[in-house]
Amino acid sequence: MATMQMTVRPEDLSQLPKGTERIPDPGILVIFGASGDLTKRKLLPALFHLWQGNLLPQRFAIVGVARRPLGDEFAADMRSGIVEFGGVDSSDPKLDGFISHISYFPLNFDDPSHYAALKKALDQIAAEKGIGPDRLFYLATAPEFFAGIVENLGAQGMAQAENGRVAIVIEKPFGHDLDSARLLNQQVNAVFHESQVFRIDHYLGKETVQNLLVFRFANGIFEPIWKRNYIDHVQITVAETLGVEGRGPFYEKAGALRDVVQNHMMELLSLVALEPPSSFDAESVRREKLKVWQAIPAIPILNTVRGQYGPGIVDHEHVVGYRDEDRVNPESATETFAALRLSIENWRWAGVPFFLRAGKRMKKRATEISIQFKQPPLLIFNRMANSGPCSEILPNLLTIRIQPDEGIALRFGAKVPTSSEMAVCPVNMDFDYEAAFGKSSANGYERLLLDAMLGDQTLFAHRDGVETNWALYTPILQAWAAKVPQVFPNYFAGSWGPECADHLLEHSGHSWRNDLGRNT
Ligand code: BG6
Repeated sequence: MATMQMTVRPEDLSQLPKGTERIPDPGILVIFGASGDLTKRKLLPALFHLWQGNLLPQRFAIVGVARRPLGDEFAADMRSGIVEFGGVDSSDPKLDGFISHISYFPLNFDDPSHYAALKKALDQIAAEKGIGPDRLFYLATAPEFFAGIVENLGAQGMAQAENGRVAIVIEKPFGHDLDSARLLNQQVNAVFHESQVFRIDHYLGKETVQNLLVFRFANGIFEPIWKRNYIDHVQITVAETLGVEGRGPFYEKAGALRDVVQNHMMELLSLVALEPPSSFDAESVRREKLKVWQAIPAIPILNTVRGQYGPGIVDHEHVVGYRDEDRVNPESATETFAALRLSIENWRWAGVPFFLRAGKRMKKRATEISIQFKQPPLLIFNRMANSGPCSEILPNLLTIRIQPDEGIALRFGAKVPTSSEMAVCPVNMDFDYEAAFGKSSANGYERLLLDAMLGDQTLFAHRDGVETNWALYTPILQAWAAKVPQVFPNYFAGSWGPECADHLLEHSGHSWRNDLGRNT
């Protein structure tokens, strides 16, 4: 298929206004569970990128907290993480200055006396560095420790500060079903006011996800057709080629529906479907998202499909099936693939099916939203050929490539330059992020960490949203748990998932878009 590339001149970027960046007040970031992978791979590289961009205050401290008795080696380990995972040169002149802000505090998560000592240590660091009372607690631990840490912070009077801002960041999972999510929210809100709570969904930190709002609401031409009258259906895919990457015990309890669909995919869906917020502030955006989720009726179990990968070939390499992964039950019933059809019963979307699918060990890594528009009411032109790319007059398709190969493509029909007939062939207008803005090394956490330090909750999950989504998915999880799948594994690693997922779409004449990536 022919492609037209729309470009933005990179030199235009240098014209962006300077000096409008928001910089947090001096404060201390305390990371619980700091010896885990997340801190080294994502959080510290992101913090360093902020430091490089002069977006952190000169006076600040990062205190890693975990059970292991570490000392200076913690900062050294973070340094190597920044270099390895942040794409940073080890001789970067800003690196040593940044590392000097890092320290470590060993703590048993369930020992109240350790929190009293932590409080003292933080006060001391603050006094030495001339930092005020602002504190940001980041829970990067296993979820079973969340409630205890929160309670202990409250008991030591660390959840509030006179003349300062204290906030808490919580990594997913926020519960594993509706009841546990409600309980966790109650426990957190017993200590921290909701305005202090930042529930991270790292998808909201992705540029391409935030761009959904810009695409829809900073442009005049899409919104008038962004509705049931013109849109045939919407597909959202989160396909990963990775397996469970040594996280067997975690994944055994999670599965694809909990791990990705209930949170990341529902965030994507809400940004596609929400009404224009009255402003870009936390309350307006979160209110509109909630309305979308609340308009989704219960999903019939017949409209869901689960799958589990067997052995296969991914990226030219043989890989084992899920049941043979490290620390996975050889008879596991955990799904590594989930697909479903849902509807949003409001004036904008009634009658438009939304198809969602997520899977591990799929044929290709691609997170994409594709919006298929309706055909014109009457097709007056001929098909050009019996086979090949011009054999069909295809409906307009808007594809938002969240990752990789980030961009947006619009497929439309164009006249083939031949004098003998009016023949139509599909072509693409394609916006490519990298070509337009250059390559970004950001991992999504930069924006979220900065917003949390600044107290901006727009890109964070609210308890009402979390609970609404659990209310939607808990019955499916319960129904799946009640019936052990007899056919697992039911798809080969390196395929597009189980065949039965195709039936979800077939009866409405649709099919999954499997040529993900640029429209072809
Ligand atoms: C995480 C899940 O939340 O998201 C992982 O726990 C998944 O299993 C990951 O691989 C996907 O994130 P990304 O940014 O790689 O699309």
